Amino acid sequence: MGATIVVGGFFGDEGKGKIVSYLSFKDKPNIVVRAGVGTNAGHTVVVKDITYKIRQIPTGFVSEDSRLLIGPGVLVDPDIFHKEVSETDVENRIGLDEQCAIITKEHISLDQSSPHTAKKIGSTGTGCGPCNAERAIRKVKIAKEIPSLKEYFTDVPLEVNTALDQGGKVLIEGTQGTFLSLYHGTYPFVTSKDITAAAVCSDIGLGPTRVNAVIVVFKAFVTRVGSGYLENELSEEEAKKRGWFEVATVTGRKRRSAPFNIKLAKRATMLNGATQAAITKLDIVFPECKGVKSFNKLSSTASDFIKNIEKEIGIPVTLIGVGPEVEEIIDRRREFS
Ligand code: IMP
Ligand code: MG
Repeated sequence: MGATIVVGGFFGDEGKGKIVSYLSFKDKPNIVVRAGVGTNAGHTVVVKDITYKIRQIPTGFVSEDSRLLIGPGVLVDPDIFHKEVSETDVENRIGLDEQCAIITKEHISLDQSSPHTAKKIGSTGTGCGPCNAERAIRKVKIAKEIPSLKEYFTDVPLEVNTALDQGGKVLIEGTQGTFLSLYHGTYPFVTSKDITAAAVCSDIGLGPTRVNAVIVVFKAFVTRVGSGYLENELSEEEAKKRGWFEVATVTGRKRRSAPFNIKLAKRATMLNGATQAAITKLDIVFPECKGVKSFNKLSSTASDFIKNIEKEIGIPVTLIGVGPEVEEIIDRRREFS
């Protein structure tokens, strides 16, 4: 495994939380480290009928022996950090970098009251944009200045690189999706920084030569919250008819939806230098696939759907989600290793 990065291939909400929690369960990484923007991300994890909605800490908390880290590039909201740490009972194994920038009440109210971010862009209103802006002008507070976080401080880049030097496994969680990248997305309807695999490396202080695998996650259909163009967008009525209608984890907003977009998938594969893909929610598009345990037991329409994606993007689809539970995954990594 070495260092494995998980990134989103569309507009966020591809099911990265599920993929990361599955890999954490299965591979028992020494470290699961959170990269990405900050608390604007909402990752849903379902373990033994309990649904966790996580925004700040690594969703890899489900692997009980893994060390959990938050990289210096990630924005930290101390209230949300403390709340999630106690809800998931990870006080003794979580650490964050002193250099994480801190989201304040002012950032949040600015994000929510500005007509530009709140109305035009459709921001999540979690303060991430204003916080990153303040970081860019070098006025933001960093974690080092917050006493309540002190007991969690650690040198995240050093821990991650040392674990790899010692032959350990490190799982790296990206957030959002490729087309919400500040550089590569549908500007201005994007988030407040780059979130592709290269940015993920920089968020945690890992050089690109040390990465062993990049898994790009696609959902079997495309969704988007907030503003910005969505090719072949369905009406809400049609989305409901197909069972594709979703509500956002963080904001409770309706997600817009569209069929799988192969053009975007190819570009996301390129932009992330992805070596493998994961497809989630195959059972939503092909209900007969719910809970299926192996690739050759999928219906022919569903397996053709996967094979066509593989042909177009040029990398194997190694993980296929067939239900909400962490273990409802067809894992084909052995076939391709
Ligand atoms: P912000 O990052 O909160 O400023 O939001 C900017 C845009 O990115 C808006 O369209 C949000 O809906 C979208 N966005 C940010 N984070 C996520 C996410 O984790 N999932 C889906 N959309 C997101
Ligand atoms: Mg989400």
